[in-house]
Amino acid sequence: MALLDGKHVLLGITGGIAAYKCAELVRGLRRAGAEVRVVMTAAAERFVTPTTLQALSGNPVRSSLWDEAAEAAMSHIELARWADVVLVAPASADALARFAGGQANDLLSTLCLATEAPVHLAPAMNRVMWANAATQANVAALRARGFRIHGPGSGEQACGETGEGRMLEPEQLIDALAGHAGPWQGRHLLITAGPTYEDLDPVRFLGNRSSGKMGFALAEAAMAKGAQVTLVAGPVMLQTPAGVRRIDVRTAVQMHEAVMAELAGIDTFIAAAAVADYRPKTVSAGKIKKSDADASLDLERTPDILAAVSASPLRPKRVVGFAAETEHLDQYAQEKMRNKNLDAIAANVVGMPGSGFESSHNALTVFTRGGRHAIPLATKRQAADALLDILLEQLP
Ligand code: PMT
Repeated sequence: MALLDGKHVLLGITGGIAAYKCAELVRGLRRAGAEVRVVMTAAAERFVTPTTLQALSGNPVRSSLWDEAAEAAMSHIELARWADVVLVAPASADALARFAGGQANDLLSTLCLATEAPVHLAPAMNRVMWANAATQANVAALRARGFRIHGPGSGEQACGETGEGRMLEPEQLIDALAGHAGPWQGRHLLITAGPTYEDLDPVRFLGNRSSGKMGFALAEAAMAKGAQVTLVAGPVMLQTPAGVRRIDVRTAVQMHEAVMAELAGIDTFIAAAAVADYRPKTVSAGKIKKSDADASLDLERTPDILAAVSASPLRPKRVVGFAAETEHLDQYAQEKMRNKNLDAIAANVVGMPGSGFESSHNALTVFTRGGRHAIPLATKRQAADALLDILLEQLP
């Protein structure tokens, strides 16, 4: 069976240079089994012609609310009902502002207001326009209202600059749409990943060996199973999985702040990060000079993010921890589960090559309130898939 077999995809195209990728997007959507109808804004028609998209989609392309013949064939309300899913790609800064404002001043914005289907947006614009506070506020408002935002990606831009603002590639968008039909559809996951770094001075820090691979694999697997995913990542060298919203942090305090600010509307929180338990009591403004004498560090506790989430009035339905242990795996993991009032904990042995920290593989022992579940050594992506399946089965 193809990824989007029989799905009615309404593709909205707004004005941006990335509109040229829509020809490939329409072909890919049809190859994935979808029936595609295209709606273009007036600005989009300056970048790509309706004739091309009509030929590729096999359906007439609509652009005006006032086209009597087209309205007689299928009114805009019927079109809004026809869609199983709406994808706006590229979604320009102007389109985001109009959707966020709830405007209905052209066919596409009217459809986005009139449809009950999930609306997916693939923003594409110059990096400064994307970073602008107005655009970011519009994106936050849209996200809070249930719009799914995919990307943008980062890289070379048509304007010659480099940065965040590129539309995701057609295959990534198709995968994201296909994923949204999965078992985690409609659920928003918040995941932490990677280490935290606790600065001693401008050149030194306390860190750990976490690569972020386990948390990123969970984010990728959750996306593929249809979830909306926000990933709070410590300093890691990993690519953001397509469609995942990523917030970069450095320290435990920053990770705590980012997580608590994102809790509203979260269904499941998974703490895969290796958060520093202690940080230096003071951070030296200048590089600490060496001397002949021995030195010692004064450390203070960092906030326990997992415990704070579990105790929050905004506590997600499922709060899931990890336990990294070198011995007494089952006992220590269950103690952490009890002490932090968790719904589940995934325990892994660390300190050995081939699993745990840094490796691309892992073996997990998962404790839920219903029992103990072993996930044998597998790739971290496979282990992530298995963990998500257990969570949904045990905590539906
Ligand atoms: O990143 P990788 O290289 O892929 O490695 C994966 C991993 C080994 C880091 C991962 O599988 C893992 O075990 N993550 C948790 C590591 C850890 O810090 O475990 P812990 O037993 O010390 O902490 C228990 C739980 O509390 C964890 O969910 C941790 O995220 C959370 N915690 C801990 C301290 C703190 N201040 N705040 C927290 O939220």
